[in-house]
Amino acid sequence: MLPELRFMSENERGEQLIMVVRDTLAEETDDLANLATVAAYVYAYITRVNWVGFYILRGDTLVVGPYQGMPACVRIPLGKGVCGTAAAEKRVIVVPEVSKFAGHIACDAASRAELVIPIYKDGELYGVLDIDSPEPNRFDEEDVTTLTEIGRLVSDALSKKLVAV
Ligand code: SME
Repeated sequence: MLPELRFMSENERGEQLIMVVRDTLAEETDDLANLATVAAYVYAYITRVNWVGFYILRGDTLVVGPYQGMPACVRIPLGKGVCGTAAAEKRVIVVPEVSKFAGHIACDAASRAELVIPIYKDGELYGVLDIDSPEPNRFDEEDVTTLTEIGRLVSDALSKKLVAV
């Protein structure tokens, strides 16, 4: 754990995560470096998660990108699983209990709850940010707000709308 996180509440961690991601994205222009660094920050700052990463749209397939956690499924067809559904429907999906989501793709059997945020580049779907937790009902409204904001910052950076000040 990053030492500065030890005494922070979950609220503070969320606020700090947004700040550190905004700073990182404002200073670096390389997309791959940014995706890898954001995945690592989300994994470090958000508690009780077992997988955080990006799937990137290649044609009509999501292909795994930078992530933290156990090795995961490499390709997910658009429309399949939670990630493929969020991408196809271009909406944030929160799944409190993955065994109840028809078509959920089990990459890590430990995952019980999942949150998927679509990512855009220049207004076009670019991929998704996927966050998995071993705890059912893990993600509340505040987590969804924080991670949706992270997705928006990544989308802006990919579209080169974020610049260092
Ligand atoms: N569970 C996801 C697949 C990706 S992994 O969880 C890393 C899904 O149903 O799309």
